[in-house]
Amino acid sequence: MRTGIWLVGARGSVATTTVVGAAALRAGMAPATGCVSMLEPFHDLPLPDFGDLVFGGHDIASTSLIKRAGELAEAGVLPLGLPDVLSLELAAADAEIRPAPSQGESGGQAAVAAAISADLTDFRDRLALDRVVVVNVSSTEPPATPHPAHASLALLRQALAGAEQVLPPSSLYAFAALESGCAFVDFTPSAGARLPALDELARERGLPYAGSDAKTGETLVKSVLAPMFARRALRVRSWSGTNLLGGGDGATLANPDHAISKNESKAMVLPAVLGHEVDGGVHIHNVPDLGDWKTAWDHITFEGFLGVRMSMQFTWNGCDSALAAPLVLDLARFAALAHQAGVVGPLPELGFFFKNPVASTEHALEAQYATLVEWARTAGAA
Ligand SMILES: NC(=O)c1ccc[n+]([C@@H]2O[C@H](COP(=O)([O-])OP(=O)(O)OC[C@H]3O[C@@H](n4cnc5c(N)ncnc54)[C@H](O)[C@@H]3O)[C@@H](O)[C@H]2O)c1
Repeated sequence: MRTGIWLVGARGSVATTTVVGAAALRAGMAPATGCVSMLEPFHDLPLPDFGDLVFGGHDIASTSLIKRAGELAEAGVLPLGLPDVLSLELAAADAEIRPAPSQGESGGQAAVAAAISADLTDFRDRLALDRVVVVNVSSTEPPATPHPAHASLALLRQALAGAEQVLPPSSLYAFAALESGCAFVDFTPSAGARLPALDELARERGLPYAGSDAKTGETLVKSVLAPMFARRALRVRSWSGTNLLGGGDGATLANPDHAISKNESKAMVLPAVLGHEVDGGVHIHNVPDLGDWKTAWDHITFEGFLGVRMSMQFTWNGCDSALAAPLVLDLARFAALAHQAGVVGPLPELGFFFKNPVASTEHALEAQYATLVEWARTAGAA
């Protein structure tokens, strides 16, 4: 099953690590460490093989993928020398990256969506792909400004024909992806497909979509620890998290408007799992020197029998793109499976991967994993 993975933000750290990683897996040069879809419960499912994946994408940046991979290798995110060994594969993926159509183009957003769709259709047809999954790994946007046209597909189509900018870029990509018959995955906290009008479009076109905001670090740990406190009937009183990161993501999140989206999705797990709000909060600091390495330092206070006060702390030092890239591959493989099985609309069963799972209020990691396994087996048998 030849499957295209169209990366929005194709020249970013996560996208570049994904393309390099997939090429290394295909060449048998690296084990699939971090790839959930390679675990035993998913072995017999009709998921696309790594050898069946073909990459393309959009970006506003023009730095070549080979140069980006070289920079990531210099920074220690990729093994030194690997981009050179895989230069042919990287050149092939680079040749499939198109400049992001400008949001300010004349003809309004309908014209921009048509240009995105034309790139997607050309990619699928020219490379004889069975299906294409569009994965948004571009810079996190501020929360979408509400617009009456978000409420229904008819209103949205009408508004897109005008000169007004009614959709944020991530939602315009989602619109174009669904219009072109592609499944859509939002790896970021941006609005993406999560507007009523786009849900309607997905259902009209018989397509699945998943999101939002992959959990790869602090929130992943929280989604394991919070259920532990809840199961032991220990009352969590405060949970404060400080995140230090650099790279493109750190620079984007240094803008308070953009950080709102990330902070909102990071804040979901605790009230959902503990059943009450707790003191504290999440803070993100841009430290350019850290590059792709993210340090999350969390301080938790909790109460035990007879009101005795206790605390715990943890420190997470993660390489963000190395944690994210295998999940991009997993999500594309599972979304392709959903598309093939005829699953339509939101995919709450992929909530295991996300901080803000679409159509689901479950945030506990083990429960999410059990749901994923059951869903994948059913979809695989369809
Ligand atoms: N790394 C992780 O662990 C992780 C976890 C969850 C979410 N994310 C999200 O994944 C995204 C990518 O992270 P990254 O570290 O690769 O960031 P990055 O800054 O390195 O890459 C983002 C890319 O998006 C491109 N871009 C920006 N606007 C665009 C547009 N309108 N159209 C097309 N391309 C556009 C940029 O030019 C850049 O190449 C971020 O939104 C981040 O919050 C990452």
